[in-house]
Amino acid sequence: MPPPSQDTSPDLWQRYGARRSRADRAAGMDGTFHWDWYQRNGPGAELLGSLDGRAVIEVGAGTGRQAAHLARTSTACEVTALDASASMHERCRRSYGNVPRLRMVLAEATSYLVERPSTFDLVYSVFGALDFTDPRRLLPAVTASLRPGGTLVFSTLGHYRNGQACESRVRSAQLPTVLADGTPTTMERWVLDLPLWERLLARAGLDVVGVDTVRDAGRGGGPPMATRIIRAARPHVRHL
Ligand SMILES: C[S@@+](CC[C@H](N)C(=O)[O-])C[C@H]1O[C@@H](n2cnc3c(N)ncnc32)[C@H](O)[C@@H]1O
Repeated sequence: MPPPSQDTSPDLWQRYGARRSRADRAAGMDGTFHWDWYQRNGPGAELLGSLDGRAVIEVGAGTGRQAAHLARTSTACEVTALDASASMHERCRRSYGNVPRLRMVLAEATSYLVERPSTFDLVYSVFGALDFTDPRRLLPAVTASLRPGGTLVFSTLGHYRNGQACESRVRSAQLPTVLADGTPTTMERWVLDLPLWERLLARAGLDVVGVDTVRDAGRGGGPPMATRIIRAARPHVRHL
């Protein structure tokens, strides 16, 4: 029997990771940073401001392209590319293992962040952990891991892929996906509307400092999509 600490849940990201790496290579996407669904439009890394000497972590870094871009183009003290999927972590390691100041971590975001209080200047996610983890658990862990004045920036869906509106209550959806062997299954995704994100962030002790919405008419047979990019900061002084 495996030891109780061993993660035996299936890795839902193997197929996505393989497809994503192939598509990014074919489109010459290496060395780019975008927040939007189709990775083409809207603001890029400049939204993060200066990263000089900052401690940066991407939660749900996947194949690692965005984190590698930041490590190469900034003088951040270190960029951590964290992912809970062994297959994604391995892809990231194979592609970007030699990038200076890029550190790759295989871990679940909430558990990792709660163990590192006041450690990071920037936590960010591009359709990463913030989309796939209960925000009532993850957001307080993000706040705790940020230094005072530190920021959280994340991109998330502005509606479901079929056009259905975001949830206005805190509840996840089970969306269809397939395992590496082709077996159909589902994965939990949090598709929440902006007022709800604002309430959850405030409850976790974060102030919303900016919101961008990027709309795309659709590409490569994909549907029109809206991406919400939310920026929030941990105040220097705690609100009473
Ligand atoms: C849709 S992919 C996005 C990856 C990458 N940001 C990109 O744009 O290619 C979502 C990633 O988030 C990771 N993820 C989801 N929940 C996570 C959690 N709680 N902790 C760490 N990683 C998580 C998944 O393993 C997956 O690699």
